[in-house]
Amino acid sequence: MEKRKILLGITGGIAAYKSAELVRMFVKRDFEVRVIMTKASREFITPLTLETLSGNEVSVEMFPKNKHFSTHHIDLADWADIFIIAPSTANFLGKASSGICDDLLSTVFAAAGCPILIAPAMNSNMWDYPAVRENVRKLESFGFYFIGPETGDLACGWIGRGRMAEPSEIYETALSILSANGELRGIKMLITASRTEEPIDAVRYISNRSSGKMGYALAIEALALGAEVKLIAGPSELPNPRGVEVIKVNTAAEMASGVRGNFDECDVLIMAAAVADYTPVEPSEGKIKKLGDDLNLRLKPTEDILSSLALHKADKVIIGFALETENGLINARKKLAAKNLDFIVLNNPKESGAGFNIDTNRVDFIYADGKIESLPLMSKRRLAQEILKRVSAILKSKAGRE
Ligand code: CTP
Repeated sequence: MEKRKILLGITGGIAAYKSAELVRMFVKRDFEVRVIMTKASREFITPLTLETLSGNEVSVEMFPKNKHFSTHHIDLADWADIFIIAPSTANFLGKASSGICDDLLSTVFAAAGCPILIAPAMNSNMWDYPAVRENVRKLESFGFYFIGPETGDLACGWIGRGRMAEPSEIYETALSILSANGELRGIKMLITASRTEEPIDAVRYISNRSSGKMGYALAIEALALGAEVKLIAGPSELPNPRGVEVIKVNTAAEMASGVRGNFDECDVLIMAAAVADYTPVEPSEGKIKKLGDDLNLRLKPTEDILSSLALHKADKVIIGFALETENGLINARKKLAAKNLDFIVLNNPKESGAGFNIDTNRVDFIYADGKIESLPLMSKRRLAQEILKRVSAILKSKAGRE
């Protein structure tokens, strides 16, 4: 069997010495490891150490003087099954989050298509610095994995959050990412996200507070599991996750036609979008003027996308969301049946930590056979993993029945 390939990027922090241990761990378990070092990292550990441990030449230069005629950075980016940056300095996070490619490591980072795991290490004040927090958030939203930093004694003498995760934990996390990758390989996944905006006139619209965080997290995690992902997204500030085909829409009608147009070829549909239920009958082409009297706005129902597709479900897996502030269970069960779903994710925006425009959610899964699973409060990224775990199990049991 071909060895699995680990590309390790080392940046200039004191924790660089722990990367030698990480290389040893992978090599001992029969992985092939190649290392890219930044210039600063060579102040902390020598390429010779890593060359000896990995058994491979260490890359530092963007334009090495010897051999390579082809594009060195693309070769390395294409080679890896997983790319680990450990330790990652604040400087590297800044460069990676803004797409700066001014040395070999940052250039390979931008070119890599494999899963990427980042293990930051820095002083705790640097970790808390708002620009660093923002860069981490941005990189997470692009679909990269993070581990640590941990709290403890720091090399600078401080005690706080900033220590690089232990090599054994980085190793375990990399393994679980590698083994997760592939569970949905070959599966065509259609996901909807965010809200719709229904025009009232040339400048105004009816909408809701959905940010798209849940649907985008599902797209990122499904991609990491090897699925082919199409995301039909209403208006959202979130960046397009790379590797996901994103179809942007504005109105409920556009979302309906986007879903219908891609439904036949999908294996799984997850409707995480908060679609408007009503739209103005006659949106005004110009701007409606203020006349001082009451203004009546006539609304008509939009197409219920899941209900229209319910009869065409065949052996597809379809998951819906139910946003309920009262009688959640009863209403969610009605939607589950009416929309012919495999399960429905019930959430209540009034519950603390749940709902729109935040990074966490607290939900219950209600299944077609009546079973209920209550999940604790968790990040939307983690919830996406939990949803996809169940989707994968349903796909397996459907395949087993064929
Ligand atoms: N949905 C849909 N088409 C619509 C409205 C909603 O496919 N026009 C989907 C949502 O994406 C979600 C599920 O149906 O997966 C339930 O949406 P929700 O807003 O909770 O319920 P509604 O069916 O719209 O009913 P109500 O607003 O009365 O609760």
